[in-house]
Amino acid sequence: MAPTDDFVNIWGPGDVASGNNDFHRLWSADVASGTHPQPALQAANALRKIYPDHSLVMTQHNILNFPLLVSTPLPNAPLVASLEVRPTARTADGVTGILAPIIEFGAFQAAWDRYDFIIYVISWKQGFGTYTLYIVLHQGPEEASRSLILSSGLFNQTLHEEVWVYNQGFWSKDHPLWLDIQKADWKDVILSDDFKKTLQKDIYGFFKSEPIYKELAIPWKRGIIMHGPPGNGKTISIKVIMKTCDALGFAPLYVKSFQSYKGEEGAMQDVFDKARQMSPCVVVLEDLDALITDRNRSFFLNQLDGLQGNDGLLVIGTTNHFERLDPGLSTRPSRFDRKYLFDDPNRDERALYAKYWQEKLKTNDGIEYPDALVEEVADKTEQFSFAYLKEAFVSCLVTLAGWEGDDKPTFGNALKAQIKTLRKQLDKMPLAAKRVDFRPLFDTLAEARSPPMSPQSPPGERDFRVLLDRLASERQRGSSMDMRALGERIEALVAEAQRALSERELVAVVAPSTT
Ligand SMILES: Nc1ncnc2c1ncn2[C@@H]1O[C@H](COP(=O)(O)OP(=O)(O)O)[C@@H](O)[C@H]1O
Ligand SMILES: [Mg+2]
Repeated sequence: MAPTDDFVNIWGPGDVASGNNDFHRLWSADVASGTHPQPALQAANALRKIYPDHSLVMTQHNILNFPLLVSTPLPNAPLVASLEVRPTARTADGVTGILAPIIEFGAFQAAWDRYDFIIYVISWKQGFGTYTLYIVLHQGPEEASRSLILSSGLFNQTLHEEVWVYNQGFWSKDHPLWLDIQKADWKDVILSDDFKKTLQKDIYGFFKSEPIYKELAIPWKRGIIMHGPPGNGKTISIKVIMKTCDALGFAPLYVKSFQSYKGEEGAMQDVFDKARQMSPCVVVLEDLDALITDRNRSFFLNQLDGLQGNDGLLVIGTTNHFERLDPGLSTRPSRFDRKYLFDDPNRDERALYAKYWQEKLKTNDGIEYPDALVEEVADKTEQFSFAYLKEAFVSCLVTLAGWEGDDKPTFGNALKAQIKTLRKQLDKMPLAAKRVDFRPLFDTLAEARSPPMSPQSPPGERDFRVLLDRLASERQRGSSMDMRALGERIEALVAEAQRALSERELVAVVAPSTT
């Protein structure tokens, strides 16, 4: 008797092919249409009948992505795929996207290592999502299929010129970020020698210190905070650290955000689970003040304190706003107990940076860059961040490169003109964004305490209460200044000033200057 669905049986007779055919009919007509509540079981039973001499192993893991597996669709078997658009880089010759197939039903011949396989891919709706099953058939014991799945899984877990990045609730491997950090180098990070050496020792030393920690029976983990006003090398240092630790075999794990569909706590759990699995490793939390909020802090601290072992975890956080961090995070020992202030460069550091550019431009014929210019740049750029200094050099070079006409300025003059322009911008910045230098304030405070006031002192400035008000409002405004660096001094001064004020010692002294 002819089967009723001969009509669908269009991909012809033959042993394997007809086997596929039968399975596809069963799958598409019976199972996927919902008459069978156990699709996986049904599929396994059907395939066992079709391939009685094959072992059968199933997995949800996408083994077809495994680059070492060579696979081609079985001849005459249906391949049902839906297409997904994947955008590509704009530079790719006008092509801005590709179509990638998502397999709904497929049958493949595949080879890996010394083994041949037949692999079926089937998917069906389950709950709110889609369930995809990979069925691996092998003519022989199932060990071959099992080791294929294991190898493919391990390959996915291993980095290949990639960095683990956590974002939107998922870990993924990021190749562009890996490429980006390869360009970073300590020699391009200009910091005072001591600072750089201590930082490096803290980082690389950590990974060597396991035996010592073990001997002392203390948890082998370390937390480092890099803080300070923007544009002074936190991010470029992070890049070098990621690159060098990666090269040493300690994977960098980069967390973009704890926002996720599974909630921030679910995301934090993911992050620390992965870190514990990858340990020893480096966990990078950029802009810590934004990542850790009042809502998620206690969960984060629980993870950090590690009821489950956090052995081998080096956690590095950065922030432009140290003063916004909860003290539970920033001051408790064994959490983030090493702190590095990436401050605006002092004169020596500015000179180092100017020298760095002198070296860089050495081979450039059209550029006259004498040592005297190094000194001049250092002198004229007080309060500039490194990023501002960089801006001066870069835009000066851009201006010179695009210059038309004969009145082209010398490099030195162009640079100084650029510095002047940037200085004006810096002065126009709102107070909260600009770094507030409290030193003159302290000097005035100190002076104000020594009676009698000199008669020519500017009015207002010398009034203790005015100064205190200014101090208080700066603090409230959360100026980007690192409060903690000056914290102790401020506290002491304020306390003393308040005591003095309450005891009316000072009122008498400062009163005359305001009149
Ligand atoms: N210490 C530094 N040495 C050399 N260049 C620096 C330094 N700090 C900042 N820069 C320059 O400024 C840019 C911004 O610095 P970045 O590291 O992103 O600052 P942030 O401290 O805000 O993370 C860098 O790409 C780099 O070119
Ligand atoms: Mg940064």
